[in-house]
Amino acid sequence: MNVLVIGSGGREHALCWKLRQSPRLEKLWCAPGNAGIAQVADCVALDITDHAAVVAFCDEQGVGLVVVGPEGPLVAGLADSLVAESIMVFGPSEAAAQLEGSKAFTKALCDRAGIPTAGYARFDAVSAALTYIDGRPLPIVVKADGLAAGKGVVIAESHAEATKAATRLLADPGSAIVIEDFLTGEEASFFAICDGEHAIAFGSAQDHKRVGEGDTGPNTGGMGAYSPAPVMTDAMTERTMREIIDPTMRAMAADGMPFRGILFAGLMIGDDGPKLIEYNVRFGDPECQVLMARLESDLLEILYATVSGQLDEVKPKWREAVALDVVMAAEGYPELPLTGTAINGIEAAEATGALVFHAGTARDMSGQIIATGGRVLAVTAIGDSVTKAQSAAYAGVDAIDWPGGFCRRDIGWRAVEREQA
Ligand code: AMP
Ligand code: GLY
Repeated sequence: MNVLVIGSGGREHALCWKLRQSPRLEKLWCAPGNAGIAQVADCVALDITDHAAVVAFCDEQGVGLVVVGPEGPLVAGLADSLVAESIMVFGPSEAAAQLEGSKAFTKALCDRAGIPTAGYARFDAVSAALTYIDGRPLPIVVKADGLAAGKGVVIAESHAEATKAATRLLADPGSAIVIEDFLTGEEASFFAICDGEHAIAFGSAQDHKRVGEGDTGPNTGGMGAYSPAPVMTDAMTERTMREIIDPTMRAMAADGMPFRGILFAGLMIGDDGPKLIEYNVRFGDPECQVLMARLESDLLEILYATVSGQLDEVKPKWREAVALDVVMAAEGYPELPLTGTAINGIEAAEATGALVFHAGTARDMSGQIIATGGRVLAVTAIGDSVTKAQSAAYAGVDAIDWPGGFCRRDIGWRAVEREQA
């Protein structure tokens, strides 16, 4: 089978790396890809916002399956354009991608389907939002309704801060916000593979969203992750499927927008069980890298079975180990990352046994690997505890020679503390 992966991040590198190991794979392309992906796939300079160009490429090259990495093309309806031309795609339709594209859509679905989530209200007018804020207990969570690349969530510790956030997020004409109660507990990322009717659990992870050590400073796309999430025991997984994922699948199918692809639930696990914080309609980044490092089964077989309606035959097998990744980012990330700096030592890092997934790299004219984005590498390792996976990942990090980059030194700290207690 010929496969085209859409995207250019560490998530797509991990997907391509894993797909490359499948005996069923013939040709693998990635559009647009990056310097690391180029080692396992043919990178093609397709404009992925031009759906006709993607369709034409698939027709010309005999692509049998398209795997869409990021949410942007899904929310823009790339899957619909491919399905309309009978091209198989792993990823939801534009309608089903509203689960990530609109927080208000997901909250309304939770109401209808009785899915546990934070209490909320939706506003498109500043005055009504401010009145609501005044009467709520603190902290209070203010979110942009639409895609905001991690910048649309404010956890306000005062009414003044919440007011400021609501006013700012509602400044654009046509915008809307969701104001939520603050949930407490332990966060986990949970994944389920879905064929439109049914879903099966597909691993869990915990990530570190803040840029600074001790989980401080501005939010980022994620500075590191480990899998599995210790809170996602078999019992909690089963409960999450029953109380959150399965009702979502039923409601989406009943409303004529069955969800196909990978559903990524951001959960808060509290004393009274799992609550949904948000959905994403794609793999997480850097969560995907740790999932792929642990997945034993053939990824292509799983994705193909899912899109061809044979999810009942899918029984993913995982290594009985922990995987942990550390994101190396360009100096200045997340505000203003410095690009173009030279990165060396990737082979030395790989020689330690670590996997080095590229998120934002290219080769310059001389063949030197350079940084091209904010998050640049995800150094990933396996161990039989979080503590061991963590030291193996940092052994990889320490082999990398990149003065223009930085990373957190404490990825996995909560689990490590627990293991050492
Ligand atoms: P989101 O983009 O919705 O995942 O929000 C980003 C982060 O904000 C989440 O990973 C949580 O850490 C936090 N967060 C979002 N909503 C809530 C909530 N209702 N209660 C507590 N924390 C939240
Ligand atoms: N790491 C969080 C995300 O991919 O949204």
